[in-house]
Amino acid sequence: MTDGRPVAGVPLDTEAIRKDFPILDRTVHDGKRLVYLDNAASSQKPRQVLDAMSDYYERHHANVHRGVHVLAEEATALYEGARDKVARFVNAPSRDEVIFTKNASESINLVANMLGLADEPYRVDSGTEIVITEMEHHSNIVPWQLLAQRTGAKLKWFGLTDEGRLDLSRIDEVITERTKIVSFVLVSNVLGTLNPVEAIVRRAQEVGALVLIDASQAAPHMPLDVQSLQADFVAFTGHKMCGPTGIGVLWGRQELLEDLPPFLGGGEMIETVTMSASTYAPAPHKFEAGTPPIAQAVGLGAAVDYLTSIGMERIAEHEHALTRYALERLAEVPGLVIVGPTSPEDRGATLSFTLGDIHPHDVGQVLDEQGIAVRVGHHCARPVCLRYGIPATTRASFYLYSTTAEVDALVDGLEYVRGFFG
Ligand SMILES: Cc1ncc(COP(=O)(O)O)c(C=O)c1O
Repeated sequence: MTDGRPVAGVPLDTEAIRKDFPILDRTVHDGKRLVYLDNAASSQKPRQVLDAMSDYYERHHANVHRGVHVLAEEATALYEGARDKVARFVNAPSRDEVIFTKNASESINLVANMLGLADEPYRVDSGTEIVITEMEHHSNIVPWQLLAQRTGAKLKWFGLTDEGRLDLSRIDEVITERTKIVSFVLVSNVLGTLNPVEAIVRRAQEVGALVLIDASQAAPHMPLDVQSLQADFVAFTGHKMCGPTGIGVLWGRQELLEDLPPFLGGGEMIETVTMSASTYAPAPHKFEAGTPPIAQAVGLGAAVDYLTSIGMERIAEHEHALTRYALERLAEVPGLVIVGPTSPEDRGATLSFTLGDIHPHDVGQVLDEQGIAVRVGHHCARPVCLRYGIPATTRASFYLYSTTAEVDALVDGLEYVRGFFG
């Protein structure tokens, strides 16, 4: 760092970073050092986030907004301050474009429901089309299936190439004049693929369709700029980016948020209420019914401060180098086949693989016995497994505190697995 600002190109001091994460000191299974490679499912939390949350509860907790006492004002300032931090983190033009939700799933469900309830030109109904991709997390499939079933709209999707990339060869037939919304993942949570935003957004804009980007696997790992993405909505989730569970974000373009109707009703989201009708608060509060996740927002704000102090560019560089190393090392394991791009270009630090005919659940269990935490299964993206004709994969996913020594431990662990079942 110079002048207190992180500089791209300066490698991360992972040893120092790891000291911020108390859980990484843990041992499991009779003293085995924990090798945590399940970051795509959820990241660990630094002391700075844990402290911010306990300080909030120990000294400032009260319900937010409209309170006249000191604690209510402090809690409101902390909650709304977290919104400012998140807005800066994603380069949002306005803090009012940042809606706090429970998680990315709720953010996507919110958009799907808004579009089902909206007036023209945004309304999704029969005769219109919704476009997703075959590499989506269930959170970006099921809300659209529900909307399609409810409205009669048609659900379409981009398929995948054998290399684990989106097949955009028929983009003009998939995204058409009837398309109302295109919703796709920026980085796949199974394949690791980083998708080509520009081509998809350009085509969507040509036909006047809205675009939602699921940035759940991107926001924790690389600089995220909602303005340069040029989407209409961006969703992500706090617990994968050093923040707590129970908080997610939906960023939306201001004029859209002004036009679109609320989905959930309750306290906090109204302007006035009579027994026969209500008027609504402006965005973002229009979309935040009920007592919000206050402590969780405070934690997310602290997480964003933490990541920013290290530098998202540097985190991305670190993970890129680690991914390159992991791809090389995993290629040495006989019978291991990567499911997803095999070169480090345009991909994130999530590596899924199969290992001969050893079932991923067995791989995961034997790795766990050695203290190595990976995830096995379909990773809530079952269509990806169906596409590649496999029941499940083993997935190792890295983060800013991951090291080459942990990659080596994984490779050694996999050799042990092979021996165990060999
Ligand atoms: C790409 C992607 N989208 C959405 C989600 C859903 O996140 P959450 O469960 O926090 O709503 C995940 C979580 O694994 C994900 O990886």
